[in-house]
Amino acid sequence: MEFHNKTAIVTGAGVGIGFEICGQLARQGATVFLNDIDEALCTSAAEKIRAEGGTCHPLPGDSSNKTFVESMVSTAVEQTGRLDIAIANAGITLFGDFLTYPPESLFQVLHVNIGGTFFLAQAASRQMRQQGNGGALLFTSSVTGHQAHKNLAAYSMTKAALEMLAKNLVAEVSGFGVRVNTVAPGATLTERTVSDTEYENTWSRITPMGRPASVTDIADAALFLVSDKARHITGQSLVVDGGWTATSPSPF
Ligand SMILES: NC(=O)c1ccc[n+]([C@@H]2O[C@H](COP(=O)([O-])OP(=O)(O)OC[C@H]3O[C@@H](n4cnc5c(N)ncnc54)[C@H](O)[C@@H]3O)[C@@H](O)[C@H]2O)c1
Repeated sequence: MEFHNKTAIVTGAGVGIGFEICGQLARQGATVFLNDIDEALCTSAAEKIRAEGGTCHPLPGDSSNKTFVESMVSTAVEQTGRLDIAIANAGITLFGDFLTYPPESLFQVLHVNIGGTFFLAQAASRQMRQQGNGGALLFTSSVTGHQAHKNLAAYSMTKAALEMLAKNLVAEVSGFGVRVNTVAPGATLTERTVSDTEYENTWSRITPMGRPASVTDIADAALFLVSDKARHITGQSLVVDGGWTATSPSPF
């Protein structure tokens, strides 16, 4: 029960990596506020975690909307009196050829991936400073924030930006005991990625450890970074990719 008496917010968590992080946090005693932009999915995801005995509240809404993000923090604090962990996990991937990439896609990716993360870090940090006993922020980055990847210029730029945001915030929030890190998943089997039937075969072939990540692989690393075991780790990125960035063979 590592997270007993801790309150956590996780964005973009109706399925995939975020949902697994919420489940693990709840199983280890946290009160979890689970966000997703899809209201029905958000509600059913929180219900699934409660059905297993966890404490989990749905907070449906757009994690890139500053006003909504602030209301998530207020709701968590109204209901539990505190906020200890904020995980900006929501991120969208809009693939496209760089030479013809449309401005609408660029701004959408910037808005959700960078804007949403920035606003949650800001609102959570203000609350944690007021509480006076620290806290942990975590951003979901990607191996594409470390290595070039065809058709992902906009997305990979946002993920590299999140890593710099985490590093930069060390100068802003360490003074009141808040740590900030990123977890950088490699190819991970989620509801979204397995919709490409070749995904698992391709990434099994080009990943040194012989398979893509599971959501559990990523959530285990995420929980470590927001736990007290990582109490002296801040401003870092933990790559969880079965060795892919060491060799980086192209999936194409
Ligand atoms: N799956 C992978 O292979 C992989 C690899 C590297 C990084 N990532 C990153 O991990 C994170 C989670 O990815 P995933 O594949 O597990 O999930 P996903 O992409 O399937 O999305 C999870 C949920 O996020 C929600 N969402 C999207 N925009 C939102 C918004 N503005 N506000 C609130 N919710 C929103 C969606 O409705 C969805 O249910 C993302 O940041 C992604 O970039 C994923």
